[in-house]
Amino acid sequence: SLTKAERTIILSMWDKISTQADAIGTEALERLFTSYPQTKTYFPHFDLRPGSVHLRVHGAKVVAALGDAVKSIDNVAGALTKLSELHAYILRVDPVNFKLLSHCLLVTVASHFPADFTADAHTAWDKFLSIVSCVLTEKYR
Ligand code: HEM
Repeated sequence: SLTKAERTIILSMWDKISTQADAIGTEALERLFTSYPQTKTYFPHFDLRPGSVHLRVHGAKVVAALGDAVKSIDNVAGALTKLSELHAYILRVDPVNFKLLSHCLLVTVASHFPADFTADAHTAWDKFLSIVSCVLTEKYR
């Protein structure tokens, strides 16, 4: 779990991220589908070309869900229960894909906020995104 210092990093960076939430979500998805095209198979019903409306709407949803997790940083599982059921039972997303999306989110945050992205911030985001990914996949176990 996150240390107090790591929570502080996530919460303070989130204030900045939330002002560019949609752009960050969209960029992370563009990176996911470009670098790891196999992930596109989960979205056969989407237009996945860079800048598409589907990417922008979905990117905004993903970042909004991360914002819910940030707001409930001590109870991420409670905050994301419905999303966990969706990904685990209905969508049946293979957990490896969460590592790929987490990596793309990490790179996107780093490239938007290079001055904030110290080694400690890197660690905090890596841990936070692992917690979110565990919550969204834990119904498999
Ligand atoms: C839907 C968040 C990881 C595939 C969603 C929705 C959210 C979300 C908020 C919309 C739910 C709704 O409309 O009620 C997240 C978060 C993730 C994550 C926070 C991890 C950080 C993934 C991964 C995949 C995936 C790794 C597969 C590569 C999907 C699909 C949908 C969906 C296929 C349904 C899209 C649609 O038809 O509208 N996700 N997701 N998700 N997610 Fe995820």
